Amino acid sequence: PTPDTWRRVDAYLTELLVGHDPALDQAVEDQNQAGLPAIEVAPVNGKLLHLVARMSGARRVLEIGTLGAYSTIWLARALPEDGRVVTIEAEPRNADIARANLDRAGVGDRVDILLGRGADVLPTLEGGESFDLVFIDADKESNTIYLDWAARLGHPGTIVMVDNAVRGGEVANPATENPQIIGVQRGLEMLGRDPRFDATALQTLDAKGYDGIALALVV
Ligand code: DHB
Ligand code: MG
Repeated sequence: PTPDTWRRVDAYLTELLVGHDPALDQAVEDQNQAGLPAIEVAPVNGKLLHLVARMSGARRVLEIGTLGAYSTIWLARALPEDGRVVTIEAEPRNADIARANLDRAGVGDRVDILLGRGADVLPTLEGGESFDLVFIDADKESNTIYLDWAARLGHPGTIVMVDNAVRGGEVANPATENPQIIGVQRGLEMLGRDPRFDATALQTLDAKGYDGIALALVV
């Protein structure tokens, strides 16, 4: 398929199955307006996160990498009344945009934005209530650190999803010198080898191009 094919199919599926939501559309628009990179998940993948959270009955969700809170809104809307999303963002400007987007979407009261680098913030969550679903979508160089914390802050049955598992196919290039790709590779290797996880990964073709998502269970 050419990019034209998968963009057309993505638009078709998005129209049929995802539809439009003013708060989500506005979140993306404000994020773009503020000059943030357009690297939020595609609508079909936002809906995937949302459905996995609902299918699993997740009550506590941890997100690493908030950006403008597009995926955060999808996740927060999947939770029961007493549910909570804890989302970690390193960039204060992004966190400000995210906060406004979450409040406008009506889910601000069930989302905590923790400001800082994941590697600094995650240890502060130790000893708190564990997480049922973890979505990793931040600096790819740190994926193994984030996966380690996902296992430590989760429990048997916790679902872990990792965005950007394929990166245009570069993930299968053993000679890559791109530190982000190497980070994705190390993360996938960890999912294959670390006995705390059982995992798979899917290639995706959508509005964001050719990438993928890894899905793991904490065992
Ligand atoms: C990049 C990061 C992402 O999380 C994504 O979904 C797409 C691109 C990036 O850093 O380039
Ligand atoms: Mg991503």
